[in-house]
Amino acid sequence: MTMQSQAQPAPRVHEGLEGVLAAATRLSLVDGERGELIVAGKRLEELAGRPFEHTVALLWKAAGASGAAPVRAAALPDLTLALLRDAAAAGAGSMDALRMAIGTLTAAEDAEAAHLLVGSCPTIVATHARLAAGSEPLAPRPDLGFAANYLYMLSGAEPHPEQVRGLDTYLNTVADHGLNASTFTARTIVSTGADFVSAVTGAVGALKGPLHGGAPGPALDMVFEIGEASRADRYLRRKLERGERLMGFGHRIYKVRDPRADVLEAAAARMFARTGDARLYELARAVEAAALRLLEEHKPGRRLATNVEFYTALLLHGLGLDTALFTPTFAIGRMAGWTAHCFEQRASGRLIRPQSVYVGALPA
Ligand code: ACO
Repeated sequence: MTMQSQAQPAPRVHEGLEGVLAAATRLSLVDGERGELIVAGKRLEELAGRPFEHTVALLWKAAGASGAAPVRAAALPDLTLALLRDAAAAGAGSMDALRMAIGTLTAAEDAEAAHLLVGSCPTIVATHARLAAGSEPLAPRPDLGFAANYLYMLSGAEPHPEQVRGLDTYLNTVADHGLNASTFTARTIVSTGADFVSAVTGAVGALKGPLHGGAPGPALDMVFEIGEASRADRYLRRKLERGERLMGFGHRIYKVRDPRADVLEAAAARMFARTGDARLYELARAVEAAALRLLEEHKPGRRLATNVEFYTALLLHGLGLDTALFTPTFAIGRMAGWTAHCFEQRASGRLIRPQSVYVGALPA
C-alpha cells in the first residue's frame, strides 16, 4: 500500500519550488516578463560598466552589512595554496578546485568571512589555472583593481582598460539574481546557523551544474562547431530534432530576452571591436538569430529567449579565458550576491525547512 492509495487528496508538490516565495530580499529584483534586473536599487544598465568593488559594496550595504572596507583581490593562505598545488597535480577540474580551496578558508566572524571569500575567489581561480598549465601562481598587485587583478593573475600581463571594463561589466551582470539555485543553497546553509564559508562552498557546488552556471562553455562550443553563419540553421535544427537543449537559451524566470544578455552583448561588441575578433561576434549574432527562430518553431509558446550564458561565453572568450574558467569566473561575480544573501539570511534568522510528501510504501 502507498500513501496515494489512501482516500485523502494528494497535497500539491511544487516541483522545483517554482512560484514559491521563500525569502524577502533587498538585493535584486528579477522581472521575467519585462526583462528587467534591478540590483540593490539600481538598474543593471546603470551598474554595468562600474568597478565590481562598487557593486559588492552596494549589495553588502543593502543587506545591512555597511561600513565594510572596499573589497580587494587577496593573497592566499599557505594551506589554500598547498591544496591548489595538490589539486592541480591530481588534475582536478577548476570548479572542484574552487570548491575545495574555499573550504580551506577560515574567518572569525561574518564580515571578515565575506571579505575573505570575495577577495580570495579570483586568486584561487587564477592560481589553479596557472598551476594546471604548469606555471607558477602570481600574487595580486596592490596597484590594480579587482577585475584587473584577476586578468593579471591569469596571464601575467597588465590588461587593456577595455578588457578590464569588459570583465567589470560581466562580474556586475552576474553579481546577484534573486533566489537562484546556488543563492538558495547558500541561504539554506546559513539558516542552520552555519558559517559563510560553509554556505558559499555549497553554493559553488550548486553553480557547477549545466542547468545553472555550467552552460557558457557548451554555448561557445556550439558557436565554434557551427563555424559559419550559413551552417547555423542545419546544425541547430538537428540538435533540436535529437531532443537536445540549446545552451544559452531559456530561463525559469525570464520569458523575454534576459536583460543581462543585452548588457553583455553590448560589452562584447565594444570589446571585440577594439581588442578581439569581430568575425566571431558576428557569427554569434547569426547563431543567436537562428536559434531563436528554430526554438519558436520547435517549442512554440514556450517563450525561450537568449539567457545570460550565451554572450557570457563570447565575452569571456574575448577576454582570453579558457572555457574551463567560465563557470569559476561566474562564481567570482556571484560571490558578491552569495555573501550579501548570507548577511540577509543571518539577519532574518529563520531556519529554511520545507516539507516533502511521502509517496513510498507503508508497512503492512
Ligand atoms: N533548448 C531547447 N528546448 C528548451 C530549452 C533549450 N535551451 N530550454 C527549455 N526548453 C524546452 C524544454 O525541453 C521544455 O519543452 P517541453 O515543454 O516540450 O517538454 C520547455 O522548453 C520548458 O522547459 P523547462 O525545462 O520546463 O524549463 P525550465 O524553466 O525548467 O528551464 C532552463 C530553464 C533549465 C534554463 C532551460 O531553459 C535550459 O535547460 N536551458 C539550457 C541551459 C542553459 O542555458 N542554462 C543557463 C540558464 S541561465 C543561469 O542559470 C545563469
